[in-house]
Amino acid sequence: MAKLRVGVLISGRGSNLKALLDTCLTPGFPAEIVAVISNRPDAIGLKYAQAMGVPAIGLDHKAYDSREAFDDSLHEALRIAGVEFICLAGYMRLLTPGLIGRWADRIINIHPSLLPAFRGLRAHEQALAAGVKLAGCTVHIVRPEVDSGPIIAQAAVPVLDGDDAESLAARVLEAEHKIYPLALKLIAEQRVRIVGDKAFIDGVVDDETAAAQLISPAR
Ligand code: GAR
Repeated sequence: MAKLRVGVLISGRGSNLKALLDTCLTPGFPAEIVAVISNRPDAIGLKYAQAMGVPAIGLDHKAYDSREAFDDSLHEALRIAGVEFICLAGYMRLLTPGLIGRWADRIINIHPSLLPAFRGLRAHEQALAAGVKLAGCTVHIVRPEVDSGPIIAQAAVPVLDGDDAESLAARVLEAEHKIYPLALKLIAEQRVRIVGDKAFIDGVVDDETAAAQLISPAR
């Protein structure tokens, strides 16, 4: 089967992009990253993509009059690169409903909370303020409502006494780097079925069970 041609959208550091790029190099991995696009041309993640020989494009959103005009350019850049599927990896700009419609069920996002809890910005601060004992991350299909859509993979990590947003974010990020490549693999293998607001995974075996992984804190 041909590899799924993936475009990754970023806005900054790009550690999830790096996890995806590194995993795509694994022999036999069913997806390849054919374009990385950032709405911030100075995003560090673009440099990593370039160094790995992946086309990296800076599309400065400030140069556009409207979100619609920016998303039209984004769509065109993705189309020219032959992208079939989009991963948002720390892409901190809302997509227009028009773009989401054009790529219906072909965009996934990673969010640093166990959705539907703690949508939006500052997910770790929200989790700490709520006093939850488990935090985590979620990969989901993108729908027009922010941080909503069928859930493909989640990982839980413990919240430890003394955590602040930074220490919790670092622990969650380790889990993100595991489940994002896993979710992409499941999609590229065509094992994810979307039925309404839910995603079902075909043929999940124990060692790749997406839901309810408990990832221990680093020692
Ligand atoms: C990640 O923690 C990701 O989950 C989060 O931004 C960070 C990006 O880090 N995304 C969101 O909050 C989107 N709502 P990275 O650039 O190192 O991948």
